[in-house]
Amino acid sequence: MITATSSPNIALIKYWGNRNDALRLPAADSLSMVLDTPTVEASVELSDVFTVQSYDANGTEKPQTEQSVARLAHHFTLAKEYLVSLGRGKNLPKNISLTIRSAIPPAIGIASSAAVFSCLGEAYGALVEGRPLSREEVSILSRLGSGSAGRNSYGGFVALINHADGMASSYAEQIADEHHWPLHDIVIVPSVKEKKVGSTEGHAAAATSPLFAERLRAIPKRMRECISALRTRDFEKLQVVSEEDALEMHRVMESQNPPLQYLSDETHRILKEIEGLRKSEKLNVLHTMDAGPTVHLICAEDSVQTVTEFAEAQKNCLIFKTKTGKSSRLITS
Ligand code: DP6
Repeated sequence: MITATSSPNIALIKYWGNRNDALRLPAADSLSMVLDTPTVEASVELSDVFTVQSYDANGTEKPQTEQSVARLAHHFTLAKEYLVSLGRGKNLPKNISLTIRSAIPPAIGIASSAAVFSCLGEAYGALVEGRPLSREEVSILSRLGSGSAGRNSYGGFVALINHADGMASSYAEQIADEHHWPLHDIVIVPSVKEKKVGSTEGHAAAATSPLFAERLRAIPKRMRECISALRTRDFEKLQVVSEEDALEMHRVMESQNPPLQYLSDETHRILKEIEGLRKSEKLNVLHTMDAGPTVHLICAEDSVQTVTEFAEAQKNCLIFKTKTGKSSRLITS
């Protein structure tokens, strides 16, 4: 049995839209911070038929939808295709049984797909005979299941960079490891309602937004600025570029066809209040939102106490605290 572990990541320069939906090849580069909690573990065993069993934080079995099993099975097929293309296809199993244990509490606004598929990228990489796969190769295996999962194959701050064409043409590059600049992510969840449209469908319609082409033109400069802010630990620079990018991604989502409105009135209220507090208390805090109303408040050590108190004072919101973490990795093989 092969077992791997991983956790989610939070994007500072967002991935939205693909140049190839089937292979999850992003239309542009993106960059995120890998988080240290909550964790997911995935185990792979050889089997005659493809099966999936999934358990929540309490060890209770979660029923799998047909759609989610089909996505996992398709990822396994793509992963084998990629390994064969590397000349590493010898003795790969025809089928496997997957056991996924997720400590990600339901509805905390942290997408689990990056954590799940990066575990699977690690585990599938361990199916090959001979030399271990490189971190780039593991990143590609993970990305084939969920675009953002491709950014978990290193710890700390990780970019997903586009290269020439083909299945293997987008993979991770580490900008700085998890010890370089420990940052906190205080997550405020205003609503636990399930979103109606997931990222996969959303990515596929991104190009229908009249703002999409302009976004693609803006990203290379933002990537350079974000990388420079991270390398020099310049919080203000990081705040300006990441907030601009996240809010622009939401304008793209809201103007695509059909439009996706992930931010709620509560999200906007929280943003306004934290911006006021940041100004009055001179806090090193930035806000960012993925495909949902959840607000991630990323902050430096000197500001974490005030930001946590602000989060805990929010009525009817779930709060989750996490920070910069390590890469996806094998536990047993
Ligand atoms: C808004 O990686 O979740 O969180 O490939 O369909 O699983 P799939 O998409 P996913 O897209 C992430 C979108 C985002 C921004 C980001 O994390 O960069």
